[in-house]
Amino acid sequence: MDRRHFLYHTALAGAATLVGCRPEAPRYAEAGRPIAVPGAPSYQAARDAATGPARQVRLVAEAVEVEVGPGEVWRTWGYNGGYPGPEIRLAEGERLEATVENRLAEATTIHWHGIPVPNPMDGVPGLTQEPIPPGGEFVYAFAAEPAGSYLYHSHVGLQLDRGLVAPLVIEEREPHVAYDRDVTIVLDDYLPGAPEPLTAPGRGGMMGGRGRMGRGRGGMMGGQVPPYRGLLLNGKLPTDPVAVEVRRGERLRMRVMNPSGATTFRFAVGGHRLTVTHADGEPVRPVTVDALLVSMGERYDVVLEADNPGAWPIAAATVEGTSAPAQAVLRYRDAAAVRPREGALPDGLTGGRLLRLDDLRSVEEPAPATRPDRTFDLTLSGGMMSSAWTIDGQAYPDAAPLAVREGERVRLSMTNHSAMLHPMHLHGHFFRTGDLSSGGVRKDTVLVPAHMGRVAVEFVADNPGRWFFHCHNAYHLEAGMAREVRYV
Ligand code: C2O
Ligand code: CU
Repeated sequence: MDRRHFLYHTALAGAATLVGCRPEAPRYAEAGRPIAVPGAPSYQAARDAATGPARQVRLVAEAVEVEVGPGEVWRTWGYNGGYPGPEIRLAEGERLEATVENRLAEATTIHWHGIPVPNPMDGVPGLTQEPIPPGGEFVYAFAAEPAGSYLYHSHVGLQLDRGLVAPLVIEEREPHVAYDRDVTIVLDDYLPGAPEPLTAPGRGGMMGGRGRMGRGRGGMMGGQVPPYRGLLLNGKLPTDPVAVEVRRGERLRMRVMNPSGATTFRFAVGGHRLTVTHADGEPVRPVTVDALLVSMGERYDVVLEADNPGAWPIAAATVEGTSAPAQAVLRYRDAAAVRPREGALPDGLTGGRLLRLDDLRSVEEPAPATRPDRTFDLTLSGGMMSSAWTIDGQAYPDAAPLAVREGERVRLSMTNHSAMLHPMHLHGHFFRTGDLSSGGVRKDTVLVPAHMGRVAVEFVADNPGRWFFHCHNAYHLEAGMAREVRYV
C-alpha cells in the first residue's frame, strides 16, 4: 500500500471519531456539494487524510480587468482580481487548504491539474461535485505531492478560456538538476468576449485548405480555432513583453505551462538551447533541444544556461492558429541592449532540434513491465462535417465509461483520425507514455499528433473514483471528446 492509500484507509477507519470535530466544515447549503462516489474516499475522509503543515489560501473567482498590452484591456474572469491567477507555491508534503469563493454569475469549480488528488477534491462538475453556485464556497484540501509544475483552472464549460487559470508549483526537496533560480512562464491565447462553442466547418473549411497549419478563415482550420486576438506570455501580448532578467553564468529554470483554451505552442529562446528537465512536473533525464511543443495542459521545465549576453526573444508560436507568437525578453543584467532586434524571433521556432516524445525518460525507474490487464483501443475523431469531437465515435456525456478495477494496469491506445492535435489528459493518475519498451516517461497529458498519429499510455489504477479522461482543447472537450474512467 503506498503512502497515500495508507492515509486514506487510516482516515476512513478514524472517520467516525473525526466527523464533526472540524470547526471549518464546508457550508453545504451554499457550497458545491460533493458527489458521493462508491469506492472512493468520502469528501470528509479525503479532507482529513491530508496531513502536513497547512497552507490556507482563499481564491475568489470574479470579473477582472487586465491590461494585456498598451491600451488593450481584457474584461474577463480571473482569480483574486487578476489574470493569470495567483501562483500557489508549496513545499512537498505541505497540505493545501483552498477556499474557493464564487463571485461570478455562473457556477464554477477548480481542478488541480496534474496533481493526483483524492477523487472528491478533483473539481469535475457532475462527476466529483456539484459546481459551486454564484455566491457559494467550496474547500479543497489535499497533500502537496509529488513535487512538480502544475496548473489549477475552472472545469466548467469554456470558463478556462476566459482566464480562470493559474500556475501551482510544488517545490522538490532535492532537485535532480542544478539551477540557480526559477521563473514560471504561462502561455495562453487571448479571446476578448465570452467564448462560444465552435460550429461545424462548412465545405471549403477543413477540406479547402492547402497547408497543415491553420490559415484562418476558409483555411485548413477555418472554423476550428476560436477568433483569438493574440497570444499571451504571462498575461502580456507581444506588444508589451515581460522581461526575464538573468545574470551571466546563471542557470535559469523556466517552468513553461500551457493552460490555453485551444493553442499548441512551439517554444524557443533566441541564442540559447534548452535542457528539458521535467515533463508535466515529473523529473526526466536531461535532454537538450532547440525547441519543444507545449500543448494544452502540458508543462515542461527547461534549464537555460545564461552564457550568451544580450537581449533575446523568448517566444511561443501557435501550431494550429494564425496569431503572432507570444513573446518575452530574456535580458542579461549587464547587456547594453534592452530589447532584441526588432522582429527577431528564435531560430528554434522554425528549425533546429525539436523535442520528441520518445526523447523523454523518467528519472524514476518504471515498475517491471508486465502485460496490461486491460487495453482500450480508442479512435479520436471529429471536425470534418460535424461539430462533435468523439472518442471511439461517442461524444460525452453520451459515452460509455471506461471501466477499470483497482490495481489493474490499464493501457489506452489512441489513434487520431482527425486533422487536429489532441492533448489527452487523465485526471487523478500519472501514466507512462513515449517509448514504453524502455520505460518511457511519466506524464498526465500527452499530445496525439494529427493525421493518424498514435500514442499509447499506461497507468496503474491506484486512486479509486470517477475520473475524467479528455482532450484538453476546451472546445473539443465541450464538443464531447471526453470519457469517464470509472472504478468498478
Ligand atoms: Cu486541466 Cu480535465 O483538466
Ligand atoms: Cu482535441
